[in-house]
Amino acid sequence: MPETILVIGGTGAQGVPVVKALASDGKYAVRVLTRTASSQEAKELATIPGVTIFEGDSYYEPTLLKAFDGVSYLFANTNGFAIGEKAEIYWGIRLYELSRQFGLKHFVYAGLEYASRLGNFNPKYRTGHLDGKGKVVDYIKSQPTEPMAWSILTSCLYIEGLSEILRPFPNPIDPDTMVFVLPIGNARMPLIYLEDYGSYARWLFDTTDRSNGLELHVATEDIAWKDVATAYTEVTGRKAIYKDVTLDEYFNLGIFPQPDAKIGHSADRNDPTLFTFRENFSGFWNTWKDELTKRDYALLDEILPSRVKSVKEWMLKVGYTGEPSSVLKDYRDQAVAGSKQEAQ
Ligand SMILES: NC(=O)c1ccc[n+]([C@@H]2O[C@H](COP(=O)([O-])OP(=O)(O)OC[C@H]3O[C@@H](n4cnc5c(N)ncnc54)[C@H](OP(=O)(O)O)[C@@H]3O)[C@@H](O)[C@H]2O)c1
Repeated sequence: MPETILVIGGTGAQGVPVVKALASDGKYAVRVLTRTASSQEAKELATIPGVTIFEGDSYYEPTLLKAFDGVSYLFANTNGFAIGEKAEIYWGIRLYELSRQFGLKHFVYAGLEYASRLGNFNPKYRTGHLDGKGKVVDYIKSQPTEPMAWSILTSCLYIEGLSEILRPFPNPIDPDTMVFVLPIGNARMPLIYLEDYGSYARWLFDTTDRSNGLELHVATEDIAWKDVATAYTEVTGRKAIYKDVTLDEYFNLGIFPQPDAKIGHSADRNDPTLFTFRENFSGFWNTWKDELTKRDYALLDEILPSRVKSVKEWMLKVGYTGEPSSVLKDYRDQAVAGSKQEAQ
């Protein structure tokens, strides 16, 4: 009988390729915890042999006590955008504690960079969704590597975001030219191809002798945004430019329709620790603009020789056109909730 991996966040953009990689050959049984077993994402995952859907809230202890029953491993991607930094810290640590309580063999945490610390606690780098996970990473790193192994899979913006939050727009004064707009100057910023992310997660579970106690920082390529525009032109034949903007200009673009609204739609709206989109993403873009993070590409080549190695290679692989397409489940769910409200 294959042993079971419980996956938190398995129906999300990040979780789906992880579940697919873990369930690819029957070595593991995969239990996906989701609030809604009837969602399109959950129904699709349920068709994969070895995957079972477990309905309940990942941020509710009685559900977790049931979901952990009979499990040997955990992959946890908590959703800081939904619950806010404070709750993300709590639940990251609580998931570790429950994993020990239930005698799990290996705990794998989907980490992000601790931007504030990397930036010497200059408030210009504070980013709720990075710092929350970064603090949990520190907590995990202070734990022993036995009796339970732990690993951290630290990522960055999804390359698929080039079709959503990072997508180009036609230049209003020259619609034949696509414009990639970001407030990061000439910085080179990492992006990760999600299918490879899933393969790294699989490697962590399969290779405990190397992955126990390891924080693996993954990305496809660190790339300057002018080079994203060049790759786009090479792949599609369409003209493209990169436009560097200030943070104020960026927030006026409408990428976040309400930049001063609070992030954390499932949190207590009166929680004063919640960030606004403007606060959170100012810290976020400042972090990438000042190139505060690093990855070891030689190690990634060794772990996953078949990995996609550049943004251009990814564009060719997926037939990228720059047209918008949906990436985040949360955005899809919010859009449905919004249109239901409008209809009422
Ligand atoms: N966007 C990026 O480029 C990027 C890059 C690296 C890391 N991340 C991190 O990934 C996390 C989000 O995961 P994702 O990118 O896979 O997002 P996503 O596609 O929007 O999926 C959201 C996931 O969160 C789960 N969830 C649990 N409780 C939720 C709640 N109350 N409200 C909304 N969703 C809830 C959803 O499960 P059900 O709906 O099935 O219950 C689903 O699995 C965030 O912490 C973010 O910081 C994002």
